[in-house]
Amino acid sequence: MPPKSVLFVCLGNICRSPSAEAVMKKIIKNQSFSIHLDSAGTANYHTGGPPDERAIFVGKSLGYDLTALQARQVNQQDFYEFDVIFAMDENNFKDLQKIKPTDATAQVMMFDKTAIADPYYGDVQDFKAMFLHIEQASQNWLQKWCGGDNHE
Ligand code: 4NP
Repeated sequence: MPPKSVLFVCLGNICRSPSAEAVMKKIIKNQSFSIHLDSAGTANYHTGGPPDERAIFVGKSLGYDLTALQARQVNQQDFYEFDVIFAMDENNFKDLQKIKPTDATAQVMMFDKTAIADPYYGDVQDFKAMFLHIEQASQNWLQKWCGGDNHE
């Protein structure tokens, strides 16, 4: 069964996690279930701002709409409100563990075994590669949640 809610977390919440939110939103759009999706950053550098313009631009070219998203910082409440919190890389994962309340109900996990590379200091090609990696990881989760004969 898919989780009811998923939060994607990266560092700035302007490149990787809003992109993952947009990709997963589109992927589950035509499914028979819905998942509440959101994204946040471990840092507050970009709070209130839009996604990186390169993420918006490359996302649009691949059919994803990131224009309505607004950066925010992850907070303690998130560890109770979301079933699953996906870290985009190991640093995000470690930072989440540091602030995770002891009685948190969310499961904090890496989004993929391989970190989603931070494209912030890269170019448009790095953003393209980021989207492809996110698409693959999203499909893997969908398969894990819904695929096969597993009715758990
Ligand atoms: P993100 O990328 O964590 O994928 O949103 C970054 C965004 C901003 C910064 C670093 C990474 N920054 O240093 O401002």
